[in-house]
Amino acid sequence: KRPASTVLFIFGGSGDLNLRKLTPALYNLFLDQWMPEKFHIAGLGRTPYTDDNFHTRLLDGVTKFSRRKDVDAAKFGEFAQHVQYLHLDAENEADFQKITDLVKAKGGEWGEEPNVIFYLAVAPQLVPDIATKLGKLTLTKEKANTRIVVEKPFGHDFKSAHELNALLASMFTEEQIYRIDHYLGKETVQNILALRFANAMFEPVWNRNYIESVQITAAETVGLEGRAGYYDQSGALRDMVQNHILQLLCMVAMEAPVSFDANEVRNKKVDVLNAIRPIKTEDVDKVAVRGQYGPGVVKGKEVVGYREEKGVAEKSKTMTYAAVKFFIDNWRWQGIPFYVRTGKFLKQKSTNITLTFREAPHFAFPPESTKTWRPNQLTISIQPEMDIRIRFQSKRPGQTMTLDPVNMIFNYDEAYGRDDAPEAYETLLLDVMEGDATLFMRADQVEAAWKVVMPIQEHWENTEPDFPNYTPDSWGPEAADKLITNDGHAWTNLS
Ligand code: BG6
Repeated sequence: KRPASTVLFIFGGSGDLNLRKLTPALYNLFLDQWMPEKFHIAGLGRTPYTDDNFHTRLLDGVTKFSRRKDVDAAKFGEFAQHVQYLHLDAENEADFQKITDLVKAKGGEWGEEPNVIFYLAVAPQLVPDIATKLGKLTLTKEKANTRIVVEKPFGHDFKSAHELNALLASMFTEEQIYRIDHYLGKETVQNILALRFANAMFEPVWNRNYIESVQITAAETVGLEGRAGYYDQSGALRDMVQNHILQLLCMVAMEAPVSFDANEVRNKKVDVLNAIRPIKTEDVDKVAVRGQYGPGVVKGKEVVGYREEKGVAEKSKTMTYAAVKFFIDNWRWQGIPFYVRTGKFLKQKSTNITLTFREAPHFAFPPESTKTWRPNQLTISIQPEMDIRIRFQSKRPGQTMTLDPVNMIFNYDEAYGRDDAPEAYETLLLDVMEGDATLFMRADQVEAAWKVVMPIQEHWENTEPDFPNYTPDSWGPEAADKLITNDGHAWTNLS
Protein backbone atom coordinates (compact mmCIF):
# COMPACT_ATOMS: atom_id res chain seq x y z
CA LYS A 1 0.00 0.00 0.00
CA ARG A 2 1.32 3.39 -0.94
CA PRO A 3 1.71 6.13 1.68
CA ALA A 4 -0.93 8.87 2.02
CA SER A 5 -0.68 12.13 0.03
CA THR A 6 2.47 13.96 0.96
CA VAL A 7 4.17 17.30 0.54
CA LEU A 8 7.88 16.94 1.22
CA PHE A 9 10.07 19.97 1.89
CA ILE A 10 13.82 19.44 1.56
CA PHE A 11 15.89 22.14 3.26
CA GLY A 12 19.26 22.15 1.54
CA GLY A 13 17.50 21.40 -1.75
CA SER A 14 20.48 22.18 -3.93
CA GLY A 15 22.93 20.55 -1.51
CA ASP A 16 25.00 17.43 -1.84
CA LEU A 17 22.83 15.13 0.20
CA ASN A 18 19.78 15.83 -1.90
CA LEU A 19 21.65 15.37 -5.16
CA ARG A 20 23.51 12.23 -4.17
CA LYS A 21 21.06 10.44 -1.93
CA LEU A 22 17.59 11.91 -1.45
CA THR A 23 16.44 12.59 -4.99
CA PRO A 24 17.93 9.36 -6.40
CA ALA A 25 16.10 7.51 -3.62
CA LEU A 26 12.81 9.35 -4.20
CA TYR A 27 13.08 8.74 -7.93
CA ASN A 28 13.65 5.02 -7.37
CA LEU A 29 10.62 4.91 -5.08
CA PHE A 30 8.69 6.59 -7.87
CA LEU A 31 9.85 4.00 -10.41
CA ASP A 32 8.96 1.18 -8.03
CA GLN A 33 5.53 2.75 -7.48
CA TRP A 34 6.09 3.37 -3.82
CA MET A 35 5.54 7.13 -3.91
CA PRO A 36 2.10 8.30 -2.79
CA GLU A 37 -0.52 8.64 -5.54
CA LYS A 38 -0.42 12.35 -4.80
CA PHE A 39 2.90 13.85 -3.82
CA HIS A 40 4.81 17.06 -4.20
CA ILE A 41 8.44 17.77 -3.41
CA ALA A 42 9.87 21.23 -2.83
CA GLY A 43 13.63 21.74 -2.68
CA LEU A 44 14.30 24.79 -0.54
CA GLY A 45 17.31 27.05 -0.57
CA ARG A 46 18.72 30.52 -0.84
CA THR A 47 20.43 30.17 -4.21
CA PRO A 48 17.97 31.17 -6.92
CA TYR A 49 17.07 28.40 -9.40
CA THR A 50 14.33 28.11 -11.93
CA ASP A 51 12.47 24.81 -11.75
CA ASP A 52 14.11 23.83 -15.03
CA ASN A 53 17.61 24.47 -13.75
CA PHE A 54 16.79 22.64 -10.57
CA HIS A 55 15.47 19.62 -12.48
CA THR A 56 18.63 19.54 -14.60
CA ARG A 57 20.75 19.45 -11.46
CA LEU A 58 18.64 16.71 -9.95
CA LEU A 59 18.75 14.63 -13.13
CA ASP A 60 22.50 15.00 -13.10
CA GLY A 61 22.58 13.69 -9.52
CA VAL A 62 20.31 10.78 -10.38
CA THR A 63 22.43 9.89 -13.41
CA LYS A 64 25.61 9.86 -11.36
CA PHE A 65 24.46 8.40 -8.08
CA SER A 66 21.39 6.23 -8.55
CA ARG A 67 21.77 2.47 -8.10
CA ARG A 68 19.93 2.14 -11.40
CA LYS A 69 22.10 3.06 -14.34
CA ASP A 70 20.34 3.92 -17.67
CA VAL A 71 18.27 6.83 -16.45
CA ASP A 72 15.37 7.49 -18.82
CA ALA A 73 15.07 11.28 -19.22
CA ALA A 74 11.39 11.09 -20.20
CA LYS A 75 10.53 9.02 -17.16
CA PHE A 76 12.50 11.41 -14.99
CA GLY A 77 10.47 14.24 -16.57
CA GLU A 78 7.31 12.57 -15.26
CA PHE A 79 8.79 12.50 -11.77
CA ALA A 80 10.04 16.08 -12.07
CA GLN A 81 6.49 17.32 -12.64
CA HIS A 82 6.04 16.71 -8.92
CA VAL A 83 9.20 18.57 -7.99
CA GLN A 84 9.76 22.28 -7.65
CA TYR A 85 12.36 24.65 -6.30
CA LEU A 86 11.17 27.04 -3.64
CA HIS A 87 13.37 30.01 -2.93
CA LEU A 88 13.52 30.38 0.86
CA ASP A 89 15.95 32.22 3.05
CA ALA A 90 15.98 30.23 6.27
CA GLU A 91 17.03 33.30 8.22
CA ASN A 92 13.96 35.19 7.14
CA GLU A 93 10.96 34.11 9.17
CA ALA A 94 8.48 35.70 6.75
CA ASP A 95 9.68 33.32 4.01
CA PHE A 96 8.26 30.37 5.97
CA GLN A 97 4.79 31.55 4.99
CA LYS A 98 5.58 30.08 1.55
CA ILE A 99 5.50 26.63 3.16
CA THR A 100 2.04 27.12 4.57
CA ASP A 101 0.82 28.53 1.26
CA LEU A 102 2.15 25.59 -0.70
CA VAL A 103 0.59 23.04 1.64
CA LYS A 104 -2.75 24.84 1.41
CA ALA A 105 -2.56 24.98 -2.38
CA LYS A 106 -1.80 21.26 -2.64
CA GLY A 107 -4.50 20.41 -0.12
CA GLY A 108 -7.00 22.39 -2.20
CA GLU A 109 -5.88 20.79 -5.44
CA TRP A 110 -6.01 17.26 -4.04
CA GLY A 111 -9.17 17.74 -2.00
CA GLU A 112 -7.55 16.32 1.14
CA GLU A 113 -5.15 17.34 3.90
CA PRO A 114 -1.71 16.02 2.93
CA ASN A 115 0.99 14.75 5.24
CA VAL A 116 3.80 17.25 5.51
CA ILE A 117 7.44 16.25 5.89
CA PHE A 118 10.31 18.61 6.58
CA TYR A 119 13.67 17.09 5.72
CA LEU A 120 16.58 19.05 7.19
CA ALA A 121 19.46 18.22 4.84
CA VAL A 122 21.50 21.14 6.11
CA ALA A 123 24.63 21.80 8.17
CA PRO A 124 24.01 20.85 11.83
CA GLN A 125 24.43 24.41 13.10
CA LEU A 126 21.37 25.49 11.07
CA VAL A 127 19.08 22.81 12.50
CA PRO A 128 17.98 24.56 15.75
CA ASP A 129 17.05 27.77 13.97
CA ILE A 130 15.11 26.14 11.12
CA ALA A 131 13.36 23.76 13.51
CA THR A 132 12.33 26.70 15.71
CA LYS A 133 10.83 28.56 12.77
CA LEU A 134 9.01 25.44 11.63
CA GLY A 135 7.75 24.92 15.14
CA LYS A 136 5.94 28.24 14.96
CA LEU A 137 3.90 27.29 11.89
CA THR A 138 0.31 26.38 12.63
CA LEU A 139 0.55 23.33 10.41
CA THR A 140 3.26 21.87 12.64
CA LYS A 141 0.66 21.61 15.39
CA GLU A 142 -1.08 18.94 13.29
CA LYS A 143 0.82 16.33 15.22
CA ALA A 144 -0.36 13.31 13.29
CA ASN A 145 0.32 14.79 9.84
CA THR A 146 3.57 16.68 10.17
CA ARG A 147 7.01 15.11 10.55
CA ILE A 148 10.53 16.43 10.76
CA VAL A 149 13.60 14.49 9.62
CA VAL A 150 16.96 15.35 11.16
CA GLU A 151 20.23 14.12 9.67
CA LYS A 152 23.37 13.16 11.51
CA PRO A 153 25.45 14.44 13.21
CA PHE A 154 22.81 14.77 15.93
CA GLY A 155 24.67 17.05 18.31
CA HIS A 156 28.38 17.36 18.77
CA ASP A 157 28.54 15.75 22.19
CA PHE A 158 26.16 14.56 24.90
CA LYS A 159 25.29 18.06 26.06
CA SER A 160 24.48 19.51 22.64
CA ALA A 161 22.49 16.42 21.65
CA HIS A 162 20.51 16.73 24.87
CA GLU A 163 19.85 20.40 24.20
CA LEU A 164 18.78 19.73 20.62
CA ASN A 165 16.42 17.00 21.83
CA ALA A 166 14.94 19.41 24.37
CA LEU A 167 14.50 22.10 21.74
CA LEU A 168 12.79 19.71 19.31
CA ALA A 169 10.62 18.31 22.09
CA SER A 170 9.37 21.81 22.90
CA MET A 171 7.82 22.02 19.42
CA PHE A 172 7.27 18.48 18.16
CA THR A 173 6.16 15.24 19.75
CA GLU A 174 8.68 12.40 19.67
CA GLU A 175 6.43 10.63 17.11
CA GLN A 176 6.97 13.54 14.72
CA ILE A 177 10.77 13.41 14.89
CA TYR A 178 12.80 11.12 12.62
CA ARG A 179 16.53 11.06 13.43
CA ILE A 180 18.30 9.33 10.58
CA ASP A 181 21.10 6.81 10.86
CA HIS A 182 21.37 5.57 7.30
CA TYR A 183 23.07 2.31 8.37
CA LEU A 184 19.74 1.16 9.76
CA GLY A 185 18.21 1.39 6.30
CA LYS A 186 20.75 -0.99 4.77
CA GLU A 187 19.24 -4.31 3.71
CA THR A 188 22.00 -6.34 5.31
CA VAL A 189 21.56 -4.49 8.59
CA GLN A 190 17.82 -5.06 8.66
CA ASN A 191 18.49 -8.68 7.89
CA ILE A 192 20.27 -9.08 11.22
CA LEU A 193 16.82 -9.02 12.81
CA ALA A 194 15.58 -11.66 10.38
CA LEU A 195 18.63 -13.86 10.93
CA ARG A 196 18.35 -13.67 14.68
CA PHE A 197 14.63 -13.65 15.27
CA ALA A 198 13.07 -15.52 12.34
CA ASN A 199 15.20 -18.64 12.87
CA ALA A 200 15.32 -21.08 15.72
CA MET A 201 18.90 -22.22 15.23
CA PHE A 202 20.94 -19.10 16.01
CA GLU A 203 19.35 -17.53 19.04
CA PRO A 204 20.00 -20.45 21.45
CA VAL A 205 23.76 -20.04 20.96
CA TRP A 206 23.72 -16.25 20.69
CA ASN A 207 25.08 -15.54 24.15
CA ARG A 208 28.09 -15.69 26.46
CA ASN A 209 27.78 -19.45 26.90
CA TYR A 210 28.75 -20.11 23.30
CA ILE A 211 30.25 -16.89 22.01
CA GLU A 212 33.68 -15.80 23.08
CA SER A 213 33.95 -12.42 21.38
CA VAL A 214 32.23 -10.15 18.90
CA GLN A 215 33.84 -7.72 16.51
CA ILE A 216 32.52 -5.02 14.24
CA THR A 217 34.56 -3.43 11.49
CA ALA A 218 33.60 -0.47 9.33
CA ALA A 219 36.67 0.03 7.18
CA GLU A 220 36.75 2.60 4.40
CA THR A 221 39.23 3.00 1.57
CA VAL A 222 38.32 6.63 1.05
CA GLY A 223 40.08 9.47 2.85
CA LEU A 224 38.73 12.87 3.75
CA GLU A 225 37.02 13.47 0.40
CA GLY A 226 37.26 17.26 0.78
CA ARG A 227 35.11 17.28 3.93
CA ALA A 228 37.66 18.96 6.22
CA GLY A 229 35.20 21.62 7.39
CA TYR A 230 33.01 18.97 8.94
CA TYR A 231 35.40 16.13 9.62
CA ASP A 232 38.17 18.02 11.39
CA GLN A 233 35.63 19.02 14.04
CA SER A 234 34.34 15.49 14.23
CA GLY A 235 36.68 12.49 13.78
CA ALA A 236 36.07 8.77 13.62
CA LEU A 237 34.50 8.39 17.05
CA ARG A 238 31.80 10.99 16.42
CA ASP A 239 31.44 10.31 12.72
CA MET A 240 31.09 6.53 12.81
CA VAL A 241 31.21 4.99 16.30
CA GLN A 242 28.64 7.10 18.16
CA ASN A 243 26.04 6.33 15.51
CA HIS A 244 26.56 3.64 12.86
CA ILE A 245 28.77 1.26 14.81
CA LEU A 246 26.86 1.45 18.07
CA GLN A 247 23.67 0.86 16.10
CA LEU A 248 25.18 -2.28 14.57
CA LEU A 249 26.26 -3.35 18.04
CA CYS A 250 22.68 -2.91 19.26
CA MET A 251 21.32 -5.05 16.42
CA VAL A 252 23.71 -7.86 17.37
CA ALA A 253 23.35 -7.59 21.11
CA MET A 254 19.69 -6.69 21.71
CA GLU A 255 17.14 -9.01 23.27
CA ALA A 256 14.33 -10.36 21.09
CA PRO A 257 11.58 -7.79 20.64
CA VAL A 258 8.07 -8.89 21.47
CA SER A 259 6.79 -7.17 18.31
CA PHE A 260 8.13 -4.93 15.59
CA ASP A 261 6.43 -1.92 17.07
CA ALA A 262 8.78 1.05 16.74
CA ASN A 263 9.03 1.68 20.45
CA GLU A 264 9.39 -1.96 21.35
CA VAL A 265 12.39 -2.40 19.02
CA ARG A 266 13.95 0.84 20.22
CA ASN A 267 13.41 -0.09 23.86
CA LYS A 268 15.40 -3.24 23.31
CA LYS A 269 18.20 -1.31 21.61
CA VAL A 270 18.42 1.36 24.24
CA ASP A 271 18.70 -1.37 26.87
CA VAL A 272 21.94 -2.44 25.19
CA LEU A 273 23.36 1.08 25.12
CA ASN A 274 22.49 1.55 28.76
CA ALA A 275 24.20 -1.72 29.63
CA ILE A 276 27.51 -0.85 27.98
CA ARG A 277 30.07 -0.61 30.76
CA PRO A 278 31.09 3.05 31.22
CA ILE A 279 34.74 3.53 30.40
CA LYS A 280 36.74 5.30 33.11
CA THR A 281 39.15 8.03 32.03
CA GLU A 282 42.10 6.10 33.44
CA ASP A 283 41.11 3.04 31.40
CA VAL A 284 40.67 4.72 28.02
CA ASP A 285 44.22 3.96 26.91
CA LYS A 286 43.74 0.29 27.76
CA VAL A 287 40.55 -0.20 25.78
CA ALA A 288 40.67 2.34 22.96
CA VAL A 289 43.11 3.19 20.18
CA ARG A 290 43.03 6.23 17.96
CA GLY A 291 44.83 6.79 14.70
CA GLN A 292 45.47 9.39 12.06
CA TYR A 293 46.88 8.63 8.64
CA GLY A 294 50.13 10.06 7.38
CA PRO A 295 51.16 10.37 3.74
CA GLY A 296 51.22 7.29 1.54
CA VAL A 297 50.02 5.62 -1.61
CA VAL A 298 46.43 4.60 -2.29
CA LYS A 299 45.54 2.67 -5.44
CA GLY A 300 48.85 3.68 -7.00
CA LYS A 301 48.34 7.37 -6.24
CA GLU A 302 50.30 9.40 -3.73
CA VAL A 303 48.15 10.94 -1.04
CA VAL A 304 49.05 13.56 1.55
CA GLY A 305 48.81 12.91 5.26
CA TYR A 306 45.67 14.00 7.10
CA ARG A 307 47.34 17.05 8.61
CA GLU A 308 48.37 18.21 5.14
CA GLU A 309 44.84 17.94 3.76
CA LYS A 310 43.27 21.21 2.68
CA GLY A 311 41.30 22.81 5.51
CA VAL A 312 42.78 20.61 8.25
CA ALA A 313 44.57 22.23 11.20
CA GLU A 314 48.33 21.83 11.08
CA LYS A 315 48.50 19.95 14.39
CA SER A 316 45.04 18.48 14.18
CA LYS A 317 44.27 15.93 16.89
CA THR A 318 41.32 14.58 14.92
CA MET A 319 41.42 10.81 14.61
CA THR A 320 40.69 9.18 11.28
CA TYR A 321 40.74 5.76 12.94
CA ALA A 322 39.27 4.47 16.17
CA ALA A 323 39.13 1.04 17.79
CA VAL A 324 37.40 0.32 21.10
CA LYS A 325 36.76 -2.69 23.30
CA PHE A 326 33.36 -2.55 24.96
CA PHE A 327 31.68 -4.80 27.50
CA ILE A 328 27.96 -5.16 27.97
CA ASP A 329 26.97 -5.72 31.56
CA ASN A 330 23.90 -7.91 31.29
CA TRP A 331 23.04 -11.60 31.57
CA ARG A 332 23.49 -12.36 27.89
CA TRP A 333 26.88 -10.75 27.36
CA GLN A 334 28.65 -10.48 30.70
CA GLY A 335 32.42 -10.76 30.18
CA ILE A 336 32.30 -10.94 26.37
CA PRO A 337 34.40 -8.31 24.61
CA PHE A 338 32.88 -6.37 21.72
CA TYR A 339 35.74 -5.02 19.62
CA VAL A 340 34.83 -2.30 17.15
CA ARG A 341 36.99 -0.39 14.68
CA THR A 342 36.60 2.06 11.87
CA GLY A 343 38.95 4.14 9.79
CA LYS A 344 39.61 6.10 6.64
CA PHE A 345 42.15 5.03 4.02
CA LEU A 346 42.25 1.44 5.20
CA LYS A 347 43.32 -1.47 3.09
CA GLN A 348 39.90 -2.65 2.13
CA LYS A 349 36.35 -1.35 2.11
CA SER A 350 34.45 -3.68 4.35
CA THR A 351 31.76 -3.44 6.98
CA ASN A 352 31.28 -6.69 8.79
CA ILE A 353 30.33 -8.24 12.08
CA THR A 354 31.94 -11.43 13.33
CA LEU A 355 30.89 -13.58 16.26
CA THR A 356 33.59 -15.97 17.39
CA PHE A 357 32.43 -19.10 19.20
CA ARG A 358 34.04 -20.98 22.03
CA GLU A 359 35.94 -24.22 21.51
CA ALA A 360 34.01 -27.46 21.40
CA PRO A 361 33.87 -28.69 25.02
CA HIS A 362 35.78 -31.87 24.35
CA PHE A 363 38.11 -32.69 21.49
CA ALA A 364 38.45 -36.41 20.76
CA PHE A 365 40.46 -35.91 17.57
CA PRO A 366 44.19 -36.69 17.55
CA PRO A 367 46.35 -33.55 18.06
CA GLU A 368 47.87 -33.80 14.55
CA SER A 369 44.40 -33.52 13.03
CA THR A 370 43.81 -30.12 14.49
CA LYS A 371 46.80 -28.11 13.32
CA THR A 372 44.58 -25.88 11.22
CA TRP A 373 41.79 -25.82 13.74
CA ARG A 374 40.09 -22.43 13.99
CA PRO A 375 37.12 -21.47 16.12
CA ASN A 376 33.61 -21.36 14.66
CA GLN A 377 32.68 -17.96 13.40
CA LEU A 378 29.56 -16.38 12.06
CA THR A 379 30.30 -13.36 9.91
CA ILE A 380 27.73 -10.94 8.58
CA SER A 381 29.14 -8.87 5.73
CA ILE A 382 27.19 -5.67 5.49
CA GLN A 383 28.98 -4.12 2.51
CA PRO A 384 30.29 -4.06 -0.17
CA GLU A 385 30.13 -7.86 -0.09
CA MET A 386 26.73 -8.85 1.13
CA ASP A 387 26.78 -12.27 2.67
CA ILE A 388 26.48 -14.31 5.82
CA ARG A 389 29.05 -17.02 6.38
CA ILE A 390 29.54 -19.67 8.98
CA ARG A 391 32.95 -21.16 9.53
CA PHE A 392 33.12 -24.70 10.84
CA GLN A 393 35.53 -27.64 10.83
CA SER A 394 35.32 -30.25 8.15
CA LYS A 395 37.23 -33.44 7.50
CA ARG A 396 39.57 -33.06 4.60
CA PRO A 397 39.00 -35.99 2.19
CA GLY A 398 41.70 -38.65 2.56
CA GLN A 399 42.76 -41.56 4.76
CA THR A 400 43.85 -39.41 7.67
CA MET A 401 41.66 -37.42 9.99
CA THR A 402 42.63 -33.87 9.16
CA LEU A 403 40.34 -31.03 10.07
CA ASP A 404 40.01 -27.89 7.99
CA PRO A 405 38.03 -24.74 8.62
CA VAL A 406 35.52 -24.22 5.77
CA ASN A 407 32.79 -21.69 5.08
CA MET A 408 29.12 -22.10 4.41
CA ILE A 409 28.07 -18.92 2.62
CA PHE A 410 24.76 -17.26 1.91
CA ASN A 411 25.32 -14.61 -0.75
CA TYR A 412 22.69 -11.95 -1.44
CA ASP A 413 23.66 -11.36 -5.05
CA GLU A 414 23.38 -15.04 -5.89
CA ALA A 415 20.15 -15.44 -4.00
CA TYR A 416 18.34 -12.28 -5.04
CA GLY A 417 20.41 -10.23 -7.49
CA ARG A 418 21.65 -6.89 -6.34
CA ASP A 419 19.50 -4.65 -8.51
CA ASP A 420 16.43 -5.47 -6.51
CA ALA A 421 17.90 -4.23 -3.26
CA PRO A 422 16.68 -0.74 -2.37
CA GLU A 423 19.24 1.66 -1.02
CA ALA A 424 19.14 2.74 2.61
CA TYR A 425 17.65 6.14 1.82
CA GLU A 426 14.83 4.58 -0.19
CA THR A 427 13.79 2.46 2.74
CA LEU A 428 14.11 5.30 5.23
CA LEU A 429 12.25 7.89 3.15
CA LEU A 430 9.42 5.44 2.56
CA ASP A 431 9.30 4.75 6.30
CA VAL A 432 9.00 8.47 7.04
CA MET A 433 6.16 8.80 4.54
CA GLU A 434 4.47 5.79 6.11
CA GLY A 435 5.05 7.11 9.60
CA ASP A 436 7.12 4.13 10.75
CA ALA A 437 9.93 5.19 13.09
CA THR A 438 11.32 1.72 13.86
CA LEU A 439 14.57 2.36 11.96
CA PHE A 440 15.07 5.85 13.36
CA MET A 441 16.82 6.95 16.50
CA ARG A 442 14.71 7.93 19.45
CA ALA A 443 15.89 10.81 21.65
CA ASP A 444 17.04 8.53 24.47
CA GLN A 445 18.98 6.30 22.05
CA VAL A 446 21.01 9.18 20.68
CA GLU A 447 21.80 10.43 24.15
CA ALA A 448 22.70 7.00 25.47
CA ALA A 449 25.07 6.51 22.52
CA TRP A 450 26.75 9.84 23.25
CA LYS A 451 27.17 8.80 26.88
CA VAL A 452 29.03 5.72 25.73
CA VAL A 453 31.62 7.58 23.66
CA MET A 454 32.04 10.76 25.73
CA PRO A 455 34.72 9.52 28.17
CA ILE A 456 36.88 8.38 25.26
CA GLN A 457 36.29 11.56 23.28
CA GLU A 458 37.12 13.76 26.27
CA HIS A 459 40.24 11.83 27.20
CA TRP A 460 41.51 12.03 23.65
CA GLU A 461 40.83 15.73 23.46
CA ASN A 462 42.74 16.29 26.69
CA THR A 463 45.84 14.31 25.77
CA GLU A 464 48.41 14.65 22.99
CA PRO A 465 48.26 11.94 20.36
CA ASP A 466 51.25 10.47 18.64
CA PHE A 467 50.03 11.29 15.13
CA PRO A 468 50.36 10.32 12.33
CA ASN A 469 50.48 6.67 13.30
CA TYR A 470 49.32 4.68 10.31
CA THR A 471 49.91 4.64 6.61
CA PRO A 472 47.12 4.77 4.08
CA ASP A 473 46.32 1.39 2.56
CA SER A 474 47.13 -0.40 5.82
CA TRP A 475 44.90 -1.84 8.52
CA GLY A 476 45.46 1.11 10.85
CA PRO A 477 47.75 1.62 13.85
CA GLU A 478 49.63 -1.36 15.27
CA ALA A 479 48.21 -0.67 18.71
CA ALA A 480 44.77 -1.54 17.35
CA ASP A 481 45.98 -5.02 16.45
CA LYS A 482 47.42 -5.44 19.94
CA LEU A 483 44.11 -4.37 21.46
CA ILE A 484 42.64 -7.61 20.17
CA THR A 485 45.64 -9.97 19.88
CA ASN A 486 46.55 -9.37 23.54
CA ASP A 487 43.26 -11.07 24.37
CA GLY A 488 44.05 -14.00 22.07
CA HIS A 489 41.77 -12.87 19.22
CA ALA A 490 42.37 -11.34 15.79
CA TRP A 491 40.54 -8.93 13.53
CA THR A 492 38.74 -10.65 10.70
CA ASN A 493 40.05 -9.16 7.49
CA LEU A 494 37.88 -10.60 4.80
CA SER A 495 39.37 -11.10 1.41
C1 BG6 B 1 28.76 8.88 6.99
C2 BG6 B 1 30.06 9.46 7.44
O1 BG6 B 1 27.79 8.97 8.00
O2 BG6 B 1 28.94 7.52 6.64
C3 BG6 B 1 31.14 9.29 6.39
O3 BG6 B 1 29.90 10.83 7.75
C4 BG6 B 1 31.23 7.85 5.97
O4 BG6 B 1 32.40 9.74 6.88
C5 BG6 B 1 29.87 7.31 5.60
O5 BG6 B 1 32.10 7.77 4.86
C6 BG6 B 1 29.91 5.83 5.31
O6 BG6 B 1 28.68 5.44 4.82
P1 BG6 B 1 28.58 4.16 3.87
O7 BG6 B 1 27.11 3.97 3.67
O8 BG6 B 1 29.33 4.50 2.63
O9 BG6 B 1 29.23 3.05 4.63
